[in-house]
Amino acid sequence: MSKILVTSALPYINGVPHLGHMVGCLLPSDIYARYMRMMGNEVLYIAGTDEHGTTSEVGALKEGMDVQSYCDMYHERHARTYKDFNLSFDYFGRTSSPQNQEITYHIFEQLDKNGYIEERSIKQIYSVDDRMFLADRYITGTCPHCGYDKARGDQCENCTKVLEPTDLINPKSSVSGSSNLEVRETKHLFLNLPKIEKELTSWIKTKEPFWPDVAYTIALKWLKEGLQPRCITRDLKWGFPVNKPGFEDKVFYVWFDAPIGYIGITKQWSDEKPEERNWKDWWLNADGVRYVEFMGKDNVPYHSITFPATLLGTGENWTKVDYLKGMSYLTYEGGKFSKSAHRGIFAEDALKEFPADYWRYWLMSNAPEGSDASFSFDLFAAVVNKDLNGVLGNFVSRVLKMTASKLGEAVPAAGEYTSLETDLINNLQQRVKDYLKYMDDMEFRKALNELRAIWVEGNNYISMAEPWNVIKTDEKRAAAILYNCINLIRIFAILSAPVMPQTSEAMLAKLGLAAKDMPLLKDFDVKKEMSAVLPGTAFNVGEMLFERITPEKIAELKQTYGSDNNENKVA
Ligand code: MF3
Ligand code: ZN
Repeated sequence: MSKILVTSALPYINGVPHLGHMVGCLLPSDIYARYMRMMGNEVLYIAGTDEHGTTSEVGALKEGMDVQSYCDMYHERHARTYKDFNLSFDYFGRTSSPQNQEITYHIFEQLDKNGYIEERSIKQIYSVDDRMFLADRYITGTCPHCGYDKARGDQCENCTKVLEPTDLINPKSSVSGSSNLEVRETKHLFLNLPKIEKELTSWIKTKEPFWPDVAYTIALKWLKEGLQPRCITRDLKWGFPVNKPGFEDKVFYVWFDAPIGYIGITKQWSDEKPEERNWKDWWLNADGVRYVEFMGKDNVPYHSITFPATLLGTGENWTKVDYLKGMSYLTYEGGKFSKSAHRGIFAEDALKEFPADYWRYWLMSNAPEGSDASFSFDLFAAVVNKDLNGVLGNFVSRVLKMTASKLGEAVPAAGEYTSLETDLINNLQQRVKDYLKYMDDMEFRKALNELRAIWVEGNNYISMAEPWNVIKTDEKRAAAILYNCINLIRIFAILSAPVMPQTSEAMLAKLGLAAKDMPLLKDFDVKKEMSAVLPGTAFNVGEMLFERITPEKIAELKQTYGSDNNENKVA
C-alpha cells in the first residue's frame, strides 16, 4: 500500500463551473483517486475554491455583495455541484481559510529569511473613482495597433497583441467605466526566481522519466527562456495581508497563496480530527508520499515552476509534485464556452438534464488529452445511446429479464465451461490488464475505451452462447450461461466504479450487493470473480440503467444551451 496524494487545480470561486472545468482537472482527479483507493492505496484527495484576487472583488461588486459573503455563497455552490457530480474529495476547502493563512505566512517567512524575497517599485494604474489599483485586465481602451475599442490592458482580443495598460488610448476602468486614472508608483515584494533557478532545474531533472511530455516540455521551455522575479503582492483588500513591516496594507497575490492552499486545505482537513489526521504526514518531511496533480495546461507553469520554487526556497522538506497531469481544453459545439454569449452547459444545469454518470462517462471517454476535444449534444447523445444504453444497459437488462422470465428471480446454477467461456475469460483477463495499466498511466481515453470493450465482451458472449435458443433443448446449459452473464454484471459494476460510481452501485444493488462488497482491483482475477455470485442469490430486474436520448430532446438541449448547429445529425 502506498500513500497517494491527489489534488485538482483549485477552481476560481467566481462564477460556476462548466463542463470544461469538470473535465479539465476535477473529474480526472476524482477518477484517479477512486481508482487508487480501489487498488488498495491510502489516498488523500484534496481540492477547494481559489478565492483571493481582483476577480472576486469585482465579482462581488457586480452582484452587490461584500467579498466575504460572495465567497461564502459561491463556495457552497461549488461544493454542492461537485458533490452532485460525485467527486470523492477527502476535503473540499478554501484558500481563504485561517489554516492557509498560517501556512502562507510560514512559507513567506522562510523565503524571506533565506533571501529569496526582494523589494521593488512598480508603476500601476490607480482608479481614483473606484479607489483601487486596477489589475491590467480591468482596464479597457482602444488598441494602438488595430483600433479595436474594447482592448484590455493585458492583451487585445482582436489582434492578440500583448499590451501594457499604458499603451491603451482613452483607458477606462472596466469596474466603473471611469476614466479618472492615474499612474502611481508603489513598492512590492518579488520572489527571486533566478536565485532558485539552479536548485529548481536540478529538481526538475530528477522528474524527467516520470513527467508526461507536455508538462516536462512546458517547464523546460520556461527554464530555457530564463526565469524572472515574480511579484507576489498586490494593492488589494481581499487577500492575506502581507506579514512584513511596511507592507501590511498589501495582500499576497492570489497565485502565491492559491497553490499553498493545497497544504492549507489539508490542514483544514486535519484540524477537524486532529487525533487521527496529521497534515504533516502528507506535506512536511512526509515519508513515501507520491503526489499527483491534475490541472488544465495553462496551469502547468505555476505548478511545475513557481510553486515548486516557492517550496524549495523555504529550505524545508515539503512534498513536491511527482506526476503532473495537464489537460487540454474542451470546446463547446465548435466554439468557446461563454456564459455571456449564452453558449455552453454549466455543471449545475448539466445535472438537471442527466444523471452525473452520463456526463462523467462522456467527458472522460472524450477527455482532452494531448489535443483539445469538442463537446456537442449530437456527440453526447450518440455516446450515451450507443455505449451506455446500447452496450452496458442493454446487456444488464437483457440478462436479468431473460433469467427472471425463464428461470425465476434467483441466480441460476453454474455449469462446466466450454471453449466459449475460456475464450471469454482469456479476453477479459487481457482487457482488464490493459484497463488497469491505462488507469495507472492516467491515459483516460484509452482506459475508457478498454472499459467499453470489456462490456462488449459480455454482449459478444451472450450472442454467441444464445441462451434463448439453448433453453429449448438444454435448460442446464442455458442456466449456466445466464449464471456467467450475471457474474459479468458484477464484474462490469466493479470495473466501472471509478468512472460511474452511481451506475456501479445500481448494478450491484440489482444483485443484492453494495459498493463495500467490492473486491480490490489490485489482485483482480477474472476467473475467480466469474463465480463470485452464488447460485440461489435473489436479484431484481428493476429499471433500465440508462435512458435513450431522443432526437427531440437533442433539439431541445441545443435550443436551451445554445448551438451554431441546430439540425439533428445523430438520431
Ligand atoms: N484557480 C486557478 C485556475 O482555475 C487554479 C489555481 S490552482 C492552485 O486556473 F493550486 F493554484 F490553486
Ligand atoms: Zn488590437
